[in-house]
Amino acid sequence: MNAAVEVFRKDYRAPDYAVENVDLDFDVRDRTTVVSVLRIRRNGQARADAPLHLDGRGFELLELAIDGLAVAEANVERDDERLLIKQALPQAFSLRVVTRLDPDSNHSLEGLYRSGPMLCTQCEARGFSRITYFPDRPDVLSRFKVRIEADAQRYPVLLSNGNRVEAGEAADGRHYAIWEDPFLKPCYLFALVAGDLGCVSDTYTTASGREVALQFYVDKGNEGRVPHALESLKKAMRWDEQVYGLEYDLDIYMVVAAREFNMGAMENKGLNLFNARFVLASPDTATDADYEGIESVIAHEYFHNWTGNRVTCRDWFQLSLKEGLTVFRDQNFSADLNGADVQRIGEVRQLRTLQFAEDAGPMAHPVRPDSYVEINNFYTATVYEKGAEIVRMLQTLLGRETFIKGVQHYLREHDGSAATIEDFLAAHEAVSGRNLEGFRRWYSQAGTPTVGIDDEYHLLAHTYTLHLEQSTPATPGAPDKKPVPIPIRVAFFDGEGQRIHLPAQPPLMPAPDLILLEDAQATITFEDVKVRPTPSFLQGFSAPVRLQFGYSSDQLVNLLLHESDGFARWEAVQRLMLNAFFELLSGPAGDDTQALLKGLQLLAAQHFDDKALLAELLRMPSESYLAGQLQPLDGEKLAAARDALRLRIAHALTGPLSVWATAAPEDQGAINVGRRALAGIASGYLAATRSTRILDLCRDRAGSDNMTLSYGALVALNDIDCPQREDAMAAFLSRWRHDALVLDKWFALQAGSAIGNGVERTAELLGHPDYVASPNRIRSVLGTFWRENLRAYHRADGSGYRLLAEQVLKLDKSNPQIASRLADGLLGWRGLAAPRDELLRAVLQRLVQQVASPDVSEKIHKALA
Ligand code: ARG
Ligand code: ZN
Repeated sequence: MNAAVEVFRKDYRAPDYAVENVDLDFDVRDRTTVVSVLRIRRNGQARADAPLHLDGRGFELLELAIDGLAVAEANVERDDERLLIKQALPQAFSLRVVTRLDPDSNHSLEGLYRSGPMLCTQCEARGFSRITYFPDRPDVLSRFKVRIEADAQRYPVLLSNGNRVEAGEAADGRHYAIWEDPFLKPCYLFALVAGDLGCVSDTYTTASGREVALQFYVDKGNEGRVPHALESLKKAMRWDEQVYGLEYDLDIYMVVAAREFNMGAMENKGLNLFNARFVLASPDTATDADYEGIESVIAHEYFHNWTGNRVTCRDWFQLSLKEGLTVFRDQNFSADLNGADVQRIGEVRQLRTLQFAEDAGPMAHPVRPDSYVEINNFYTATVYEKGAEIVRMLQTLLGRETFIKGVQHYLREHDGSAATIEDFLAAHEAVSGRNLEGFRRWYSQAGTPTVGIDDEYHLLAHTYTLHLEQSTPATPGAPDKKPVPIPIRVAFFDGEGQRIHLPAQPPLMPAPDLILLEDAQATITFEDVKVRPTPSFLQGFSAPVRLQFGYSSDQLVNLLLHESDGFARWEAVQRLMLNAFFELLSGPAGDDTQALLKGLQLLAAQHFDDKALLAELLRMPSESYLAGQLQPLDGEKLAAARDALRLRIAHALTGPLSVWATAAPEDQGAINVGRRALAGIASGYLAATRSTRILDLCRDRAGSDNMTLSYGALVALNDIDCPQREDAMAAFLSRWRHDALVLDKWFALQAGSAIGNGVERTAELLGHPDYVASPNRIRSVLGTFWRENLRAYHRADGSGYRLLAEQVLKLDKSNPQIASRLADGLLGWRGLAAPRDELLRAVLQRLVQQVASPDVSEKIHKALA
């Protein structure tokens, strides 16, 4: 068997053996010895001679015994990844496996590994089989009991899932703890921590009056940065009770912050493990955006306790069952807490930048994939964010109340088991009485649908007609696409921005504010329409589609000024900005640029209570978003046109921008968050004019004790080659060099800066005395470089591609998951302007010969196919 085999969803078979109990004993020394005793029972449907399949890799096997007798070599078949026991097995038996691990040299950060002062685990998706032989699949649910023994000085904190049932001293200055998890769980939710950590604790009283202990474990000295995460957790616990009627189910909830972590965080039962950047925050070290990120990731992992843990996934093809649903839940939580408009705009920006690009590239896959080579490659924007959009559409179609009942029904029906996306949809069908047959296609078809709309107004007849059509582009291996049901929220306005109310027309228009486009084409005619309407389509971004409509500039300015839906206003500016950007890409400023500037000037004259929304309306599209709009892509040209746009806006709005740039309060609090966002955006524009006054202001502000202000000022200076930038960056480095999370920001700024030779500078950053190869630092440097520094990354000599490829190759051996994330930057060669396409292809052709991990090689093979 080869490591890189393709797994297909259609090949799913229920497991032959159930593991009822898992008894683990971790003896932590220089190496860690793990004794695993499993109580196994053959499942009803299995043949009596069914072999026992176990997964395992990357450890030393010391013992393998069944009912106390060593398993004979002759009865075993094994390769690098698994082991098959073929001897005759009784219906129920015990399996004992003893393994030895070397966590200190495990740089994959999967299984048991070291992060600073602790040993910790990451098991999702298949990390548990790096610890011991086990059927490492999510549909095997067991009751876990864990004993950990370690040196009492070096590892005073010993944690695992569930309740601590016993603890005490052991010989030679060692101690132990025993943990029992009363809930059935798959092994990917197992977790263990042994470390020397600080602890911040609190309690939470559930709706039904049970007291839950909350404990946050962090590097010593960071305890003061825990309160925000702790408060976020309590808010999430309350929200899930109030909105979904879901209560926490154990007596203790623990969160551990790790310096080294491949992803954001992990929802292990009762013992979440977090990338420290999603736990630690204080006003001087974390930006307002960091605060929001923490709140949402804390909530996300908490919400998994029901959607993910109590009900888990049958197989990894169902990943979106827990991830799409849980992202949707955390998005709603954030919208309820911080305001729906800005939250939605952020979600759409992210979806369009990352997921639309993925869906248009060589790795395009359905939200429920049909096959994979490396499952870690499928923790994607498609599975997570598009998955959340599908759940949102379901809510739109069914109505919020029915939708919530559907989720509750699904949880009741499948509690304590492993379910499928089909089960989730069936629960909604049962509760609503609706048929979701066509809706299922959202899960099975890859590619972003396009909706094209034309309108026609008859002045004399007073009729207004909409022609709608949809199509989904071919994706690799899937040329033919069927229509999907697309909910399009609509509103209509007259030329002065007053709402026009047009009646519902079921079934195509089930409500006056909703079109449901189910077929490839549809037409709606409204009678008795006195003036030509300005339509606002896709309010709230009601479906993950590209919507094409020939808006005039006047219509867009109308929407920008008068729409009440925040997303729709933002979308109107985005369209104006894109039109201007394309104009500047190919020549001097003309009508489109004038229309944008005029619109922004009118916007600036309006009164805004929601400063955060105003900031979003003014923010320019990112380089990576623009990259998705430009085929073939010339990154240098793109960056130059974007710079020109920035400068135009700065000159047209100097007055209001100067006011906003100076109103930059340091105090926390929702109103000030908006003001700071606005100040950051405004100084970014103004800095482009190189006015000494603003450059000085930014340099001074970079020394602020409020990280949002400090970082915002550095962002504003970052593309301007001036002494103020040099001074501010140097001061920031020397102030924060001891603080890894803040230092990540400095590295990201350097890698993203437009000045000088960005390729050379990025290469130098990798050799900088303060550089360490932690996942966060790698992402700060190389992730920022390829995603947000298009001028450097896409240099016509190909040096940017070679730099990224070298690093991918280097990481391919130590940490394939991180290597594979970075490799995303190398996949889109087909969309590049010559000679870059061929340069990048040549880089890929060399790389594909050299990489070893299934993670990177799956992606490169698909990119070259
Ligand atoms: N389940 C985690 C979450 O909350 C992500 C774990 C991803 N792990 C991985 N190896 N891909 O989204
Ligand atoms: Zn998740």
